[in-house]
Amino acid sequence: MKQQINRFQLQSDYIPRTIEAHADACGKAIIVGEHAVVYGSRAIAMPLQVHRMSVRLRVGDEASKSVQFRISNHDVPAHVCEVVNDAFSALGIKPFNVKIEGSHSLPIGAGLGSSATLCIITLQAIAKAAQIDLSRDRLAFLANKLERRFHGNPSGLDTAVVAYEKVISFKKGPEIREIAMKKIHHDGPPCAWPFLIIDSGVRSSTLSMIQKAKPYFMGSDGEKVLQRFDDLTTKVESGLESGDPDLVAGGMNEAGQLLKAAGVVNDELRQLIDLCRDHGALAAKSTGAGGGGSIIALLNPHQQAQQKSKIGAALLRHGLQYFEVNLS
Ligand code: MEV
Repeated sequence: MKQQINRFQLQSDYIPRTIEAHADACGKAIIVGEHAVVYGSRAIAMPLQVHRMSVRLRVGDEASKSVQFRISNHDVPAHVCEVVNDAFSALGIKPFNVKIEGSHSLPIGAGLGSSATLCIITLQAIAKAAQIDLSRDRLAFLANKLERRFHGNPSGLDTAVVAYEKVISFKKGPEIREIAMKKIHHDGPPCAWPFLIIDSGVRSSTLSMIQKAKPYFMGSDGEKVLQRFDDLTTKVESGLESGDPDLVAGGMNEAGQLLKAAGVVNDELRQLIDLCRDHGALAAKSTGAGGGGSIIALLNPHQQAQQKSKIGAALLRHGLQYFEVNLS
């Protein structure tokens, strides 16, 4: 019999009956509104369907080590392993012995949601083993609690987009809206939205980037800045819903400027943004916490082949590459 548990209900005597469980989830990229979302503004994020992480969990016997967690044949660091115990607490169940083996095609620490994805699949695998049904909302909510281990006080955007696997408009609290995407209508036949993601290869901590940007959002002009981010998110949302790339590009580019002013766009990201814009991308900005990680660009839909080949060649000279996300 499947069990539905209340968010805060403790089931300390619960005994799992499923001995093996699988879980799998996508990565994410933020189109607009990162950082500001932490302070209550709205943001928009997309799932990265082809960049995923998956785990196979086996419930161990009493004699086995309580938690074994390996990803791609490497033991995960102890503080990451603790996410398993966080999952037991979040689900309100008594810990049981587990052996977890994972694999991924998602770049780690690149601002593309790897920690949110890890929290979602860990929680999902343990819930499945314990035969607990989690709605998408509850999965996102509980996984966000787990994300605190990595980000301090995350907004919930990352776990929400990973749990939903849809392009979403998100505001802290209960507000998750799926965006009704319309294909691009731009001097030609309707076409999908051609985004590129480029990983700079530089790594930084999300927590330290949030701390770095905090004075920008909490200072004397903070309210005005947050209102501006909200307006830009509304602009991007209406562009995505009406098939208007100029609206989306305008919102992304201005949000990117504000992120520079917040201090989270380092030289490597700036160079990648300039490279994309110089080769005709309609928009380019950092995505995620910044200070390294990735950028997101929106190509001109009717010149995308030329733009991709020029951007790809320029990136190759720096040992980098892009990947495409076509949204429709
Ligand atoms: C990190 O992917 C996104 C941030 O806005 C943090 C958060 O929303 O919790 C920087």
